Amino acid sequence: MFQINENYLQLNESYLFSTIARRVENFSASHPEADIIRLGIGDVTLPLPPSILSAMHSAVDEMGVKETFRGYGPEQGYAFLREKISEIDFRRRGIDISPDEIFVGDGSKSDTGNIGDILGDDNVVGITDPVYPVYLDTNIMRLGKSSQIVLLPCNEENGFLPGIPSHHLDVIYLCYPNNPTGTVMDRKQLKQWVEYALENRSLILFDAAYEAFIRDNDVPRSIYEIEGATACAIEFRSFSKNAGFTGLRCSYTVVPKALKARSVDGDELPIHSLWNRRQSTKFNGTPYIVQKAAEAVYSPQGQQEVGNMVAYYMRNAAIIREGLAEKGWTFFGGENSPYIWLKCPDGMDSWTFFDRLLQECHIVGTPGVGFGSEGEGYFRLTAFNSHEKTAEAVERIKKWEY
Ligand code: MLT
Repeated sequence: MFQINENYLQLNESYLFSTIARRVENFSASHPEADIIRLGIGDVTLPLPPSILSAMHSAVDEMGVKETFRGYGPEQGYAFLREKISEIDFRRRGIDISPDEIFVGDGSKSDTGNIGDILGDDNVVGITDPVYPVYLDTNIMRLGKSSQIVLLPCNEENGFLPGIPSHHLDVIYLCYPNNPTGTVMDRKQLKQWVEYALENRSLILFDAAYEAFIRDNDVPRSIYEIEGATACAIEFRSFSKNAGFTGLRCSYTVVPKALKARSVDGDELPIHSLWNRRQSTKFNGTPYIVQKAAEAVYSPQGQQEVGNMVAYYMRNAAIIREGLAEKGWTFFGGENSPYIWLKCPDGMDSWTFFDRLLQECHIVGTPGVGFGSEGEGYFRLTAFNSHEKTAEAVERIKKWEY
């Protein structure tokens, strides 16, 4: 009989957000009257802005005309989008990333999950705890639960930032602004990681999906703001949270040509060509219509509109922060990030807090322990609902006698 990949048996039975969705569904089915407010999964709620919609409409029309119809596109993404990204996200900020170092994808979940395809199985991989579950789960799928996966604890004592390890790591996943803790790394802290990676000839997988939420000038928006990072880092960016693309699906991954990896024979090879090979074999490109929508994000009107969306969500983050402060709870994040990471009151564990908040306040959040054992006793709220629902959730929490 054929065999399975045994590593899958070492994963939790279901993906964190699927488990939560099921629990909420069960509660909702038995309490149909409950007006549930969802501050759980980081899914956007504002509709797509006019510039993006109109670009999509035009692209749809083009698909209906013989002369402008498009079939397969380039697996790496259309030049019109890669050029805009290179110019506006990087070159205008003094970072030299060329269009052909940018690979357009269908979401950072896929890109961060798939990147392991081009990395060797002997690498020692450092993953923060707590962490966005995709990094850990996809490494377990590939390597199994092994001593090659090293967890880097992030807790209140270290400000939820991983310390530079005293041992060697080949690959390190960093996500800043951080999901789930909402914390950020300043320039000096990120520089220490780049120096570590250069010294150890390691690779940093830098997930910058929440870059648009940064308000503080001292927080780097890209790892490439740090000198030397093009020789040690791959960066992931997404249109999901800043531009409302969680349903449309568009992202990009920057693989600098200067980034080299070692083969077993000791030869140094550019990793860019490997990712290109992987994508052209396993991926047929993000739909043309979606890439036209993403291009519109870079128009002057698009920039204004997505800026307003981010500001809207950040106002929610402020509403949550103010409410929790009034309640006297301890919390982190929400200043340069749409996530607020709170310490469960009265020493409650994460899942007890989840159940009680759902049953007694009809609010959904995400249990911190779902992101790793260091998250036990913590809880994540998102800023991705409406002002009204967010304010209502905060009022319920303020009145809650737990
Ligand atoms: C989250 O809630 O952590 C995110 O929505 C997950 C994701 O972006 O895939």
